Amino acid sequence: MLRRIVITGAAVLAVVLGVQSGAQAAPAPGAPGVGDSYYPDYGNGGYDVGHYDIRLRYHPQTDRLTGTTTILATATQDLSAFNLDFALRTTSVRVGNRPATFVREGDHELVVTPARPLLRGQSTTIVVTYDDVPSSVVAAGYTAWNRTPDGALAVGQPEIAWWWYPSNDHPTDKASFDVSVLVPSGVEVISNGSPTRWAQPELRGWDRWSWRSAAPQATYLAFLAIGDFETYGDETPDGEPIITAYSTRLDPATAAAARTSIERSSEIVDWQAELFGPYPFGPRGGVVAGARELGFALETQTRPVYDGASFARGSNNSLVVHELAHQWFGDSVSVRDWRDIWLNEGFASYAEWLWSEKEGEGTAAEIADYVHSVAWPADDPFWQVVPGDPGATQLFHPAVYDRGALTLHALREAVGDPDFFAILRTWTETRRYGDASTPEFIALAEEISGDELSALFQTWLYTPGRPELEISLLSVP
Ligand code: ARG
Ligand code: ZN
Repeated sequence: MLRRIVITGAAVLAVVLGVQSGAQAAPAPGAPGVGDSYYPDYGNGGYDVGHYDIRLRYHPQTDRLTGTTTILATATQDLSAFNLDFALRTTSVRVGNRPATFVREGDHELVVTPARPLLRGQSTTIVVTYDDVPSSVVAAGYTAWNRTPDGALAVGQPEIAWWWYPSNDHPTDKASFDVSVLVPSGVEVISNGSPTRWAQPELRGWDRWSWRSAAPQATYLAFLAIGDFETYGDETPDGEPIITAYSTRLDPATAAAARTSIERSSEIVDWQAELFGPYPFGPRGGVVAGARELGFALETQTRPVYDGASFARGSNNSLVVHELAHQWFGDSVSVRDWRDIWLNEGFASYAEWLWSEKEGEGTAAEIADYVHSVAWPADDPFWQVVPGDPGATQLFHPAVYDRGALTLHALREAVGDPDFFAILRTWTETRRYGDASTPEFIALAEEISGDELSALFQTWLYTPGRPELEISLLSVP
């Protein structure tokens, strides 16, 4: 989403007339990536997406996905060509109502050359049609699209969009989304946000499901869960949908255990809003896939997706707390660079500790003590991975989660509860729907506390080895 639109009068005229000002440099191709430290070719340069309209037809029996995605984008520089991140077989591209040429580069780059260059400040439609079997497509060395016995899951981090819609695939370019899928009658389609069509008959034997994410959303946080689900609907007092869905292939006890946790999502969000500031989104809920179909849970915006196996031994409220805390830390305030991943995982993990304390189980201080001194002994290789720069191959290393959360506990011990919670709330308020970096968090913590904290963060985030941890018995305010 473009937050600052700068168009000079001359540029506006140039856009209207479709001409270029002679004084400016010739239009150039947009960069193939945004220069992320870990994934330099993810995302693209030269334009900013405002909206994705994704219209698909999908058949679970064949895994055939056909579709048209229309992107509303604004050029941020004069562009002779630009890239989309996409891995499926593309059949046509139009830019601004004119056919464009396109060529694949590598496994997830589509280079698009519009019939006429785009001028800085110009907003245009990019219409991409495609037809493929996503489960047969390998990119970045694997297939993130997940075919299940009764449908499919498009759920992944950081890669997933490539297998179902073309995009500017980096958390620094958020947009609103409409997702609409035609599936055989009886098959369900769950996605982010609010349903705008619920199993609406359209062809003999085919129904359409449509969902809208009105708030800015990062590309990896858009999801599809297609298959047979038992769904439940409710509303918040202000009329926002609470939708939960459970794979019908879960065994009854596991499905029941999952419900005891997932059906508390709205309560958990309300509790988190007291600690972290207002819930950034309206719609709520959760989706539980079959056991071992996903292998992880993901904080897909407004409606996390969970693996059924996470409830095989009973309720798992801390997992729900974790994924819902990401709605503030990760989804609303996103990483500017994937190297900043601890800003997501450390914070969501610390939320679990706060929940435990609030529930009258272990206090955050007790958990910090246990994780620091018992779970990970000083000589464990765990302590050699630094959460502030874990490396692309260790994006989800336990150190990012546990040592990230310990970093926050060390900060809390250093600044005290009033400042600590003021830092969290100011962070979510000032960066809402945007992105942020670790140096910005450190600067904010110093500004609010008035303390010099660079040594604390240098030790906890960037220095291999186990730091000392002072623990006093703090309690949740
Ligand atoms: N952000 C997710 C979570 O902490 C983790 C996703 C892990 N992804 C993966 N492909 N293993 O809940
Ligand atoms: Zn997480």
